[in-house]
Amino acid sequence: MKKGKLISCLAVTAAVFLSATLLAFAAQQPPETITIKPSIWQKTMMPPVTFSHKKHVTEDKIACNQCHMVYKDGKNVWKEGDPVETCDKCHNEPTTKGEFTLSPEKKKLNLKLAFHNLCINCHKKAKTKNPTTKAPIVCAGCHKPAAAK
Ligand code: HEC
Ligand code: HEC
Ligand code: HEC
Ligand code: HEC
Repeated sequence: MKKGKLISCLAVTAAVFLSATLLAFAAQQPPETITIKPSIWQKTMMPPVTFSHKKHVTEDKIACNQCHMVYKDGKNVWKEGDPVETCDKCHNEPTTKGEFTLSPEKKKLNLKLAFHNLCINCHKKAKTKNPTTKAPIVCAGCHKPAAAK
């Protein structure tokens, strides 16, 4: 009887542990594709960009912390399993015209530069390494008109 209770107690503990692990795992699974439409921009000039985690993470094996970040003492300390904030949570300076003329401090917070610096800089590097890469650098490669998707 005592042994039975112990075993069922262990079973319950294991089940709770397992479901917590599964939940944590499910929570950090990135959506396969997302259409990026930050809410701090009421009006946009370009068609919204569709981004594929499936392609970047699964096929190109790019680590999450190349794109997801939390800075501490000037270092990105974000690690897999940590909550993911959308970029505009921190990069909340909304200028989309003339953003290059902002002060250095504001440039760091500018949302358009955050996206363009992250996405385009890596694509340029990819192109230098492999001229036939599909990583787009031209506007329409990322900002695809709805009909051309
Ligand atoms: C490698 C991908 C990529 C390329 C290439 C790119 N952009 Fe973007 N751009 C983004 C992302 C991502 C955003 C933020 C999400 C969104 O607006 O859908 C953005 C946002 C913008 C915005 C602010 C939102 C808006 O629509 O008003 C403008 C303006 C813009 N891009 C213009 C351009 C222009 C012009 C070019 C070509 C010179 C270009 N982009 C090339 C990825 C790209
Ligand atoms: C090449 C860049 C890149 C990589 C690599 C990447 N992500 Fe993302 N991820 C993004 C972008 C961009 C968004 C959209 C952010 C926004 O809307 O502001 C996003 C959004 C997300 C979201 C949704 C956040 C929300 O609240 O809408 C989750 C969750 C996420 N990523 C998890 C991950 C995990 C886990 C990994 C690694 C397995 C990963 N991402 C790798 C660029 C990337
Ligand atoms: C939790 C806050 C936070 C989130 C969320 C965040 N960033 Fe950042 N980001 C920072 C901080 C802080 C820096 C460092 C600025 C500095 O150098 O002082 C930074 C730096 C950067 C840089 C390098 C600086 C530059 O001008 O080249 C890029 C690019 C960038 N972020 C893009 C993004 C993108 C795209 C997302 C969403 C996928 C994102 N960030 C999400 C806080 C954040
Ligand atoms: C660390 C490097 C890196 C970053 C950051 C990155 N990409 Fe890419 N991206 C790549 C590579 C490499 C490819 C080409 C894959 C291939 O040739 O098959 C690619 C391909 C693409 C493609 C074409 C394939 C497709 O999905 O149809 C799009 C669109 C794209 N990226 C958008 C983005 C956007 C938007 C961002 C920023 C939110 C971004 N990328 C950030 C490396 C990166």
